[in-house]
Amino acid sequence: METKKHIFCALDFSNLELTLSFAKKIKDHIGGIKLGLEFFTKNGPLGVEKLKKIGLPIFLDLKLHDIPNTVKQSLKNVLDLSPNYVTVHLSGGLNMLEELAEMKKKTKIIGVSMLTNLDNHDLKRMGFSCGHKKFVENLVKIGVKAGVDGIVSSPKETKYLKNKYKSLIFVTPGIRLPKNKKNDQKRIESPRFAIKAGSNILVIGRPITKSKDPVNAIQEIVKNIEYGK
Ligand code: C5P
Repeated sequence: METKKHIFCALDFSNLELTLSFAKKIKDHIGGIKLGLEFFTKNGPLGVEKLKKIGLPIFLDLKLHDIPNTVKQSLKNVLDLSPNYVTVHLSGGLNMLEELAEMKKKTKIIGVSMLTNLDNHDLKRMGFSCGHKKFVENLVKIGVKAGVDGIVSSPKETKYLKNKYKSLIFVTPGIRLPKNKKNDQKRIESPRFAIKAGSNILVIGRPITKSKDPVNAIQEIVKNIEYGK
């Protein structure tokens, strides 16, 4: 597969015009567009429809998380938009996930395991002493039982999980080149590390969106994947 197909840019902007012009600037160099809560809470379904016109796969990262009935009704609305992917929190539990997996159409349901800005200290504070590996593994087990199409996990967990669950789509945020700022992310690795570990989709935001030359930033990511530079 062409390397760029793996790169989904997280367009975490509020302004619609800015999002559209940024997407147009980089569209020939990436494999898809990730729209998340910042964009959606400002621009809603109409904003998503406008971004769809760019012609790239749309990853709608809404991280749905509520009781089964509420999430089910919300997912119905999301499916009307026909994004290629939509995210739900695996911690919503088995019943919630099973209901969603049953109603999916062309849209792939992707379960979020543990946010990449969290680490073992955060887990301990929440009362979990098992460590991030076990925590993520338990959540993924629930997702697989429910029938989700893929999962979001940090690059640190991808290899182990990919070996166990070969048919899942692996989505990986927390991607940084050595020279990039970490920002609020903790469990990070390089693009090459994630791809070698078996990731299918790299979700990359600020290393591209905050760059003075976004196309060059993407080319550096491609170079890192292909040659380790
Ligand atoms: O700017 P950065 O590359 O850190 O962006 C990562 C993107 O991935 C953000 O849009 C964030 O919402 C998303 N994400 C994440 N961790 C997860 C799931 C999604 O960082 N577990």
